[in-house]
Amino acid sequence: MDYIKLKEEFKTPFYLYDFDLIKSRFLELKSAFKARKSQIFYAMKANSNLSLLQMLARLDSGFDCVSIGEVKRALRVGAKPYKIIFSGVGKSEEELEQALKFDILYINLESEEEMLLLESVAKRLELKARISIRVNPNVDAKTHPYISTGLNENKFGVELDVARKMYLYAAKSEFLEPVGVHFHIGSQLLDISPIHEAALIVAKLLRELKALKIELKFFDVGGGLGVGYEGEEEPCLYDYAQGILENLSGLDVTIGLEPGRFLVAQSGMLVCSVLYEKITPKKRFMVVDAAMNDLIRPSLYNAYHEIVLPYTKGELSSCDVVGGICESGDFFAKDRRLAKSKSGDIVLIKEAGAYGFTMSSNYNTRPRICELALENGIIKMVRKREKFEDLIALEEEFLKDS
Ligand code: LLP
Repeated sequence: MDYIKLKEEFKTPFYLYDFDLIKSRFLELKSAFKARKSQIFYAMKANSNLSLLQMLARLDSGFDCVSIGEVKRALRVGAKPYKIIFSGVGKSEEELEQALKFDILYINLESEEEMLLLESVAKRLELKARISIRVNPNVDAKTHPYISTGLNENKFGVELDVARKMYLYAAKSEFLEPVGVHFHIGSQLLDISPIHEAALIVAKLLRELKALKIELKFFDVGGGLGVGYEGEEEPCLYDYAQGILENLSGLDVTIGLEPGRFLVAQSGMLVCSVLYEKITPKKRFMVVDAAMNDLIRPSLYNAYHEIVLPYTKGELSSCDVVGGICESGDFFAKDRRLAKSKSGDIVLIKEAGAYGFTMSSNYNTRPRICELALENGIIKMVRKREKFEDLIALEEEFLKDS
C-alpha cells in the first residue's frame, strides 16, 4: 500500500478499511455454522459506515441494531426488515413504536417493564410484536470490566427465572409473540468457553419452554469473539461453532450470531502523520495529527493498538504516541519502542476497524476524519471529512445578531 500517495490525495488523518478482508471473515464465520440454520446479524455498533453495511447486506447479512438510527441505517442500505433485530437496555417508547412499524424480525427485551411497554404500544398499533428475551446467564466472560455484560451485577438482560416468567406472560398475550432467546456475555473474548457455558444454560431454558409448548425459533448467541490486538491467538471458529451446536441437539432453531469486532477490527487502521517530536526530561512524545476523539479505545480501556511507521527507519527507543487534545488521557500508546520520527512521517494505528470511527466525537471542535475503503484492489472514499461548517450548523441559528 502506498500510504504517501494516499496522504497526498486525501490528507491525514483518515480511516482505511479493507472490505475484502471483512467479506472473507464474514464467509468464514458463516461456514463454521454450516451444519445448522444460522443467520449473522452484524453488530453495526462496531462500524456503521453505510458502504460497509451495504457490502454486508449484499452478502445476505442481517443487522443487530441498538438504536432506531441503526435500524434506519440497515434499511437505508437495502436490508430486509426480517433481517434486522433491535437490542439495548434503554429503548424508548418512540423507538419501540418505530421498530414495530418497520416490522423488523424481533425486538430483544431486557426487562419486564420494557415488555409491558412494548405490549401496550403493540396494542395501540393493533400489531403483534415479535420478541426475544435477553437472558443474563450469570457467567463471567473474564474480559475488560467495561465490556463484560453477562453477570448479574451488570445492567444487561434478565435472570433465568424472570425470563421464564416473561415468556409465559408473552405466550398468553394477544400482542406479543415470543420467537427467540438471546444472550451476550461480553466482548473481546479470547477464551470462548464462557460463551459455551452460557449456551448450555440458555439451551436448557429453551427445552423447558418447549415442554410448555413455547417453541422459540431463534437461539441468538450474541457477539464477543476476540481478536489478537497484540498477536494473541484468536478463538478457533470451528471450536466456537461446535461448542454452541453441541448444546442444541433436538432443538429446531436458527442460530443467531451478532459479531461486531470479529468482522471489522483487523480490516481497519487509522492513518495519521507525525506533527512534532517532543522531549521532556522524563519522556519522548510523538505528537500525531489524530487524537482520542478519533480513536478513544486506548484512553477508555487502556486498549493496545499496534503502531507502525512504515517509512521511518532508525534505532528504536521508548516513546508515548499522543494526540493534540488538552488531556493527559489523550494517547494511543505508552512506552512504545519506535524509531525517532520527523514531522510528516506516516503513522499507522492498526486493528482500528471496530469501535474506532463509531466512537469518535467532535471534542475540541475537531471535525471527524474521512473514511476510505479498499475493495477489489481499488481505494474509494466512503465518508467525507467533516468541515468546520458541519460542526456549527445546528447552533448557528441561535446566535444573537451582533
Ligand atoms: N451484541 C450485543 C448485544 C452487544 O452488546 C455487542 C457489543 C455485540 C453484539 C458485539 O460484540 P463484539 O462481537 O463486537 O464483541 N466499545 C468496546 C466494545 C463494546 C461492545 C459492546 N457490545 C470496545 O471498543 O472494545
